[in-house]
Amino acid sequence: MWIDAAATIDEVEKTFYIETFGCQMNAHDSEKVVGTLVHEGYAQVESPDQANYIFFNTCSIRDKAEQKVFNRLQHFKNSGKGKVVAVIGCVAQQEGEKIFERAPHVSLVAGSASYTKLPEMLVQLEKGNRRVTGLSLDTELTFDTPFTRRDNPHRGWITVIEGCDKSCAYCVVPFTRGPERSRTGASVIEEATRLAGLGYTEIQLLGQNVNSYRDPSPAGWDFATLLDQVGRVPGIRRVRFTTSHPRDFVKPIIDAIEGNANLCNHVHLPVQSGSSRVLEAMQRLYTREQYMERIQWMREAKRPIAMTSDIIVGFPGETERDFEETLDLLEEVKYDSIFSFKYSRRPNTAALELGDQITEEEKTRRLTIVQERQRAIQMRQNAELLGEEEELLVESWYESTGQWVGRTTRNRTLSFTSGMPDLLGKYVRVRVMRAGPNSLTGEIIH
Ligand code: SAH
Ligand code: SF4
Ligand code: F3S
Repeated sequence: MWIDAAATIDEVEKTFYIETFGCQMNAHDSEKVVGTLVHEGYAQVESPDQANYIFFNTCSIRDKAEQKVFNRLQHFKNSGKGKVVAVIGCVAQQEGEKIFERAPHVSLVAGSASYTKLPEMLVQLEKGNRRVTGLSLDTELTFDTPFTRRDNPHRGWITVIEGCDKSCAYCVVPFTRGPERSRTGASVIEEATRLAGLGYTEIQLLGQNVNSYRDPSPAGWDFATLLDQVGRVPGIRRVRFTTSHPRDFVKPIIDAIEGNANLCNHVHLPVQSGSSRVLEAMQRLYTREQYMERIQWMREAKRPIAMTSDIIVGFPGETERDFEETLDLLEEVKYDSIFSFKYSRRPNTAALELGDQITEEEKTRRLTIVQERQRAIQMRQNAELLGEEEELLVESWYESTGQWVGRTTRNRTLSFTSGMPDLLGKYVRVRVMRAGPNSLTGEIIH
């Protein structure tokens, strides 16, 4: 055991370090974990050397992400002596106690549904327990804490729904995050109001599939209603949301965006593939045509809505023709940006059973083509923005280049120089002067 069993709780110095992998939900979970531990008297430190407790909040979405976690754990095999190493998040939930076999120096393994129990679990370790686990998914409770330590002082994340009830054939999330559980609309509004009181002007609502949000209280709000209500909280100027599953993306969400100026002009609607045949094999529950119908709703909106997506190449059985349909869809939709991935085989998933795996070389070839095509599309799209005036929320300042960087309602980052002091967190108007495939530069309008 790493902690001297004879030491009492008070003698153990309570410092912790946390490293986070994965999506925004994981990043936000870490904010909640940090807040809860700080509230319990633990102090957060910047480097693992200074810490008694080392937390890895992990991601398992692709094999590479999981390997990264085990590589990091390996690093602490010796240098972690005398420390408690804890694995939390999606790899923890997926691998469970097997982590103790692969990395015997780990003492705590807990999935996201067990975070409320973390302080209790640490006390057990401090009392001398060698290993503790929190792996039950059987909890209706959303990890909702008033202690959240937010990293970004301007944009506040709020989890509105946990878990996922879909069963996309490639995806581990339903196993790592469990079934869907929505929070009450009232508690979301209360958190948004609290954030507004702290000076936040932008809220991002989080969930693996926000569209299937359903208020469990008698109010019974759907996602469009929740979105609209958050956009009406005094002090909140921008509301974003991620992620939307196309099957559950309904027209009232667009009506809400059109009817409420505080809802941002951006929808992330991951298509995964342009081929209905592959979509069916993926168990995505929509066809290309149904997806395009949703795109059409957005095109018909009075405000120009930015569209982004996720693409998987090399799903088992994806033919050259299927792949070309994906390329064709990219040209048809003209996304503002995409995230693209090579299919990765994941434990427990239905796609493991599918034959006709695509070789690594072929997946790499397809990924490169997708990225080149999208780059060309973005180049053309961005060039069209030259001369346009945009409102930015200023998010960062880079001393080395003397540049401020802000984000538009369409979720584009734009950099600009200005002699004005302290623009962080302010809204400014900027004219786009230069455009590259991935960046825009502008001049502030006084
Ligand atoms: N809930 C979100 C997805 C979260 S995972 C949704 O349904 O859109 C983020 C992205 O990772 C997915 O959209 C998908 O493109 C990608 N992804 C998930 N599992 C994957 C796998 N096994 N291999 C490659 N990419 C994967
Ligand atoms: Fe995974 Fe599909 Fe659920 Fe998204 S909707 S988290 S891709 S199972
Ligand atoms: Fe990864 Fe878990 Fe998010 S698998 S992408 S951290 S939900």
